[in-house]
Amino acid sequence: MTTRRLILTRSAAIVGAASTGLLLPQIARAQGNKVRVGLMLPYTGTFAQLGVAIENGVRMAIDEKGGKLGGREIEWFKVDDESEPSKGVENATKLVQRDKVDVLIGTVHSGVQMGIQKVARDSGVLNLIPNAGVHAATRSLCAPNVFRTSFTNSQPTLALGQAMIAKGHKKAVWITWKYAAGDEAFEGFRDSYTKAGGTIVKELGLPFPNVEFQALLTEIASLKPDAVACFFAGGGAAKFIRDYAAAGLKGKIPLYGSGFLTEGVLDAAGPAADGIITTMHYSDSLDTPRNKQFRLAYATTFRSQPDVYAVQGYDTGLLLAQGAAAVKGDLNNKQALYKAMESAVIDSPRGKWTMSKSHNPVQDIYLRVVENKENKVLGVAAKALADSGAGCKMG
Ligand code: PHB
Repeated sequence: MTTRRLILTRSAAIVGAASTGLLLPQIARAQGNKVRVGLMLPYTGTFAQLGVAIENGVRMAIDEKGGKLGGREIEWFKVDDESEPSKGVENATKLVQRDKVDVLIGTVHSGVQMGIQKVARDSGVLNLIPNAGVHAATRSLCAPNVFRTSFTNSQPTLALGQAMIAKGHKKAVWITWKYAAGDEAFEGFRDSYTKAGGTIVKELGLPFPNVEFQALLTEIASLKPDAVACFFAGGGAAKFIRDYAAAGLKGKIPLYGSGFLTEGVLDAAGPAADGIITTMHYSDSLDTPRNKQFRLAYATTFRSQPDVYAVQGYDTGLLLAQGAAAVKGDLNNKQALYKAMESAVIDSPRGKWTMSKSHNPVQDIYLRVVENKENKVLGVAAKALADSGAGCKMG
């Protein structure tokens, strides 16, 4: 632990985290009055870019509010969770017990989230989920101190089936990584597609974060479905898009997905991504003053284009700032803090959204198509969509 680490500037912290998987341990406790904010995100592996975009978004939202929470300065703590579920509990415990964070922001991967969820429920620490969509977090294992600012895994794909049928694609193959996020995205796809009259001819999968797609693409070619639908994200999504085109499937069998497929990967995927249609709670091209202002500010600050992960991070920062302001920085006033966060209206670049009773966004889902390295909005595929929140009992 060096002093230099204590005074990292924002940009140095971000660059450092991205390149080294930086951990910021054991910062002197004697600073009493600062709000201790823990970031538990992937800074290495296939979701590394997602973690960086989320952190950028969180910091940008708080900086825009003066860089404080409820009038208090902030002390940041970071853990690279590596998208490794087996270390989820251990990593969350580091932030809660060792670093004594007041709020834990994390994470991206649904399996890792289950570890955070356990620690949050056992310790009562405030947890804001800036991505991971695992259903249990806002269904059977929901908790008063856990708030999600992103989506449930089946939310985007619940809007996908109807859009594919509207294009005349009646027989589809589904392909994904076999873990909670892929399996639950499939639930949304299956429900919406079969309800709209579609038939799923085959479900294909490979373990996370495997990217050996070749055998599965050969199988898709021989199955000859009308379309393919999928869940992939991050570095693996860019490779899937390129491999799909290289296998000769692009232009023959239309590719659909939950919109993570085309988030943050359009430079890496190149022209292979053109024409992919997805459903998602955000789109680069949303033509609103709020989105334009956000995109310009983000690009100016970070010298890269924001994506849905940056937006989710930003909204996490907004929610935290709104909650902290309502209790004038007294995050121990939990009843009032949770009430303020439950009733918050988040003025997001994605459009205004509210919290459901189970603490998950009620939000519009857009239909988008990739054109020239941009996710272009085609329309609203589902208006004010709430997750079922099935089985959620707070308290
Ligand atoms: C998840 O594991 O919940 C997950 C990861 C990446 C995404 C979406 C969901 O883009």
